[in-house]
This record gives sequence, structure tokens and C-alpha cells, in this order.
Amino acid sequence: MKFFVDTADTDAIRDLAALGMVDGVTTNPSLIAKAGRDILEVTREICSIVEGPVSAEVVALDPEGMIAQGRKLAGLAPNIAVKVPLTWAGLTACRVLSGEGHMVNVTLCFSAAQAILAAKAGATFVSPFIGRLDDINLDGMALIQDIREIYDNYDFKTQILAASVRSVNHVTEAARIGADVVTAPPKVIRDMVAHPLTDKGLAQFMADWKATGQSLD
Ligand code: E4P
Repeated sequence: MKFFVDTADTDAIRDLAALGMVDGVTTNPSLIAKAGRDILEVTREICSIVEGPVSAEVVALDPEGMIAQGRKLAGLAPNIAVKVPLTWAGLTACRVLSGEGHMVNVTLCFSAAQAILAAKAGATFVSPFIGRLDDINLDGMALIQDIREIYDNYDFKTQILAASVRSVNHVTEAARIGADVVTAPPKVIRDMVAHPLTDKGLAQFMADWKATGQSLD
């Protein structure tokens, strides 16, 4: 399973990359707004930190506009994955851009039917949004499972990129089901290390070690 970081915060990306935890990055217009930086400048910087795919999203709503913006974003670095929404315009842009050899991430996927269309359009990645489905009392993880089964039935090459990840359980469940990639906010990735028995066990080891009076220094 590949690990992408869902942020445009370059400090957070650098910190996790130093730990070897970053196979790629996903951004979206909301994350760019949160970072408060110019999209081209921050995307270029992210691409200089991370070797793997960096998703940068178009903001046009028509195919021609998406294609032009996609080409512009793809021109920033060889590891850009152009992100387009799961609309007919987005699928049209996906087909053209992937035909030109660009990586394309089809985002805002909320159904298996949409995921089939993304695969047929030649998407490199499809991004089903787990958390936003859970938010409206639907089952985000069931969608990952459905897409996995369908893609495996037909050997579709599009990678399932589990997105809108809100918790450590989302990461482990998506990995168990077989999502190709999980993109998670930096905090969720950092939270993955936490376990009370690890803390308790370490405290006990330290206390017992201190009682020996020995030193390893
Ligand atoms: C994925 O590519 C999206 O940027 C992201 O995962 C959306 O997450 P959210 O629903 O928490 O905003």
C-alpha cells in the first residue's frame, strides 16, 4: 500500500518525508486555500520534496478549461497527477490528459458506478471519499470494497486512492480491503503510532532498567 499525505503544508510534508512515510501528496482547492499560498508556487515546492505523484486539482468546470489547466499543472513537474472531478467534463479531460501521458487522479468519487467510468476514461487514480460518505451515514469503506471487487473482476489498472480519511481506523480498514493508496492528513498518519500498551510497556521497561543501575552510554 502506498501512503500519500493529504495537505499543502510543506513543513508537514517535509517532516513526514524525512521519516520515509510519503509516497505521494494530494492537494485540492480547499487545502491550497488553507495553506494560503499561490497554487503554482506551493505545488512546485511540494514536487521538489516528494518524488512520487503529487495531485494538483483543476478549477475549470468545462473540458477545454480543465485540459488547459491540466496541461499547465502537469508542466510544473514530471510527478504531477492532474486532479479532475468526477463529472462528464472531468472524464473527458481525463481521457485527453491521460492519452497525452499525464497521470490523472479522478476525484470526488462517491459510487462504484462513477469509479467504473473513471477506469474506462483511463484514470491513473480514482479517489473515493470515505469520510464524506460516513458524514451522511453511508458506508465509505463499503465503497472501497465494491470498487476493489469490480476493478479486480476486470483487471482495471486504475489505482484506488482511498481519500477523505479521518481516522487511523480508516487507514487500516482501507489497507485491509486492498486500496492501492491511502491519502491521509498528517495528523492521522502521526496518530497511527499511538498505542497505550506501547506507552505502558516502555514505562515499565524504563523503570526496570533504572533499577538495575546499569548504563549503556
Ligand atoms: C483527496 O484527494 C481529498 O483532498 C481529501 O482526501 C478530501 O478530504 P476531506 O473530505 O477531509 O476534505
